[in-house]
Amino acid sequence: MHSALLLLTGTVVAGKCINTPSTRGETYDYIVAGAGTAGIVAAERLARSGQSVLLIERGGPSLYVTGNQKTMPWNDTVTMYDVPGMAFHTGASPDLQYCRDLSIAAGCLLGGTTNLHALMFIRPRRADFASWPEAWQWDNGLSDVAEEFYQRLPGTILASEDGKRYEDEAFGVMARFLDANGWKEENALENVEAKEMVYTHPPWSITNGLRDTPARSILPDAEALPNFTLELNSKVLRAIRTGSLVTGVEIEHANSTREIIELKKGGSLVLAGGTHSTPRILFNSGIGPVEQIETVASGETNITLPPRDQWIELPVGENLKDHAVTSITFQTKDALAALPATAWTDPDQESIDLFAKGSGLLSQSAQRLNFWTSVTTSSGAKRYIQGTVRAERNDTVGVKVYLTHGTSSTGTVGITADGTTYMPKSPLLQTKDDREALTMMVDTLIGYSRRPGSILSVPNNTIAEEIVARAGSGSHYLGTAQMGTENDGKSVVDPNTKVWDTDNLFVVDGSMHPEVPTGNTQAPIMVAAAFAAERILAATSSV
Ligand SMILES: *[C@@H]1O[C@H](CO)[C@@H](O)[C@H](O)[C@H]1NC(C)=O
Ligand SMILES: *[C@@H]1O[C@H](CO)[C@@H](O)[C@H](O)[C@H]1NC(C)=O
Ligand SMILES: *[C@@H]1O[C@H](CO)[C@@H](O)[C@H](O)[C@H]1NC(C)=O
Ligand SMILES: *[C@@H]1O[C@H](CO)[C@@H](O)[C@H](O)[C@H]1NC(C)=O
Ligand SMILES: *[C@@H]1O[C@H](CO)[C@@H](O)[C@H](O)[C@H]1NC(C)=O
Ligand SMILES: *[C@@H]1O[C@H](CO)[C@@H](O)[C@H](O)[C@H]1NC(C)=O
Repeated sequence: MHSALLLLTGTVVAGKCINTPSTRGETYDYIVAGAGTAGIVAAERLARSGQSVLLIERGGPSLYVTGNQKTMPWNDTVTMYDVPGMAFHTGASPDLQYCRDLSIAAGCLLGGTTNLHALMFIRPRRADFASWPEAWQWDNGLSDVAEEFYQRLPGTILASEDGKRYEDEAFGVMARFLDANGWKEENALENVEAKEMVYTHPPWSITNGLRDTPARSILPDAEALPNFTLELNSKVLRAIRTGSLVTGVEIEHANSTREIIELKKGGSLVLAGGTHSTPRILFNSGIGPVEQIETVASGETNITLPPRDQWIELPVGENLKDHAVTSITFQTKDALAALPATAWTDPDQESIDLFAKGSGLLSQSAQRLNFWTSVTTSSGAKRYIQGTVRAERNDTVGVKVYLTHGTSSTGTVGITADGTTYMPKSPLLQTKDDREALTMMVDTLIGYSRRPGSILSVPNNTIAEEIVARAGSGSHYLGTAQMGTENDGKSVVDPNTKVWDTDNLFVVDGSMHPEVPTGNTQAPIMVAAAFAAERILAATSSV
């Protein structure tokens, strides 16, 4: 019945004739679109139910264990993605698999952006879910799912297996600077709730000296299940939809041929493309602001949309959020022994041998200290701040200052005629409170450095407003299909992560987060994806 309908609607697109894509024989209970930070985690939990799951990833392999053969010149069983120390040094590689059709840096490969970022693994705290619906409050089951997840991907504040820290002087210098101003050291993995005037060794997603991601620690458990299938090099273009019911997806292979894959009766489609790609799939499925769907309809991507009377108007792409980040360079008289980039890009034999044992400089990421606190603006608005610290040179400490939890600024993601997504409005520092909060924190740090006896200093003409004016993206995008309790025009998904006005379409990635967390986003996205899968199973088992 559905396929007959598809054949009819699939032949004419915006006046052009295209070849009708073939339909695959195999059908699935769940199709998960995108094998990144969220998709692998959600797909594995769905697959544990015994139902059939197809996880589709547009990119290819990433870590060595996933089949990537592009190994390091100094070790033929690791790729640049496996080596934590390469985190800040992959930028120049021609092999780096960034998505080419987004206006931001995101990974199009197995594991998604977890392959590309600098490994910060900041477990979310209770307050990070404060403005989520009741069912998502920390003590309503979410914490249990998080604890179970951390058993499998725990993160570490001591990455090197030999128990030493390498090139770590910046930690000591910054710790003394903060101590002198009343701050206190915590272990951010053990005391997750402490986020006021605290600092820690950086928590990283590293295990046995290798970059840890769901592709390493979760995916193998899914692949061991008989009803789980992973498909690489296939891009999900759209949901195939008749009214509120999704019947399958249209995908595009690397050779540009398109194919339809159908859901079993009672099956569901779960979107996990990421905060910039999931909106595109929704627009392409006739879901979003009319303006965006019309761009698809009149565009060059040959996407078959549902008839106009079946478009579902929801604020997809709106409510985009991010952490704004700026940086301050402090001078120090302490010698920091900051190593040149070649210590990572062309490591010496000692580093290579230590790495083989899960240790040394290459087993660590680049930050040397994290700190958190909050500020309260003149209007009484509270905002959290994260800082990350590293030695930039042997006489300077670089501090990145992030505006995090409480941020009220929002931007938008839209689509262009050629199918590229872009940001018509930036999500950074759009509100007075956000600008004031970040300025206050920068001012506080500058103030510390001007106190008598400070071990860090900045030039006398340093002005907080100028530093804040240089703020950029933390690349921690969230919120483009945000969750809400009512279909009131402000949210895209309900508390089960189901898209409003659909029967069986879900969003489990950063898109559905209604607020930004206190730290980097990968751990919150993974934990929320695991919980979302539980809720999807509960919501769909009776369908
Ligand atoms: C896999 O799916 C088949 C068919 O639905 C089912 O009979 C079988 O029990 C499933 N396998 C597992 C391990 O759950
Ligand atoms: C395109 O790639 C798909 C998936 O690998 C394959 O099944 C199909 O036969 C290819 N089509 C053409 C025309 O090469
Ligand atoms: C869309 O279809 C036209 C006409 O068949 C073709 O020339 C063009 O390459 C197609 N574009 C895409 C993105 O598939
Ligand atoms: C710091 O680096 C500079 C420039 O490379 C060098 O001249 C200087 O000796 C170094 N100082 C210390 C204390 O290592
Ligand atoms: C490469 O690294 C692995 C650890 O990932 C280690 O087991 C192996 O011995 C290393 N090989 C060399 C040649 O150092
Ligand atoms: C910076 O200010 C301090 C204190 O007012 C002063 O002692 C110092 O000379 C100034 N430095 C420069 C380079 O102007």
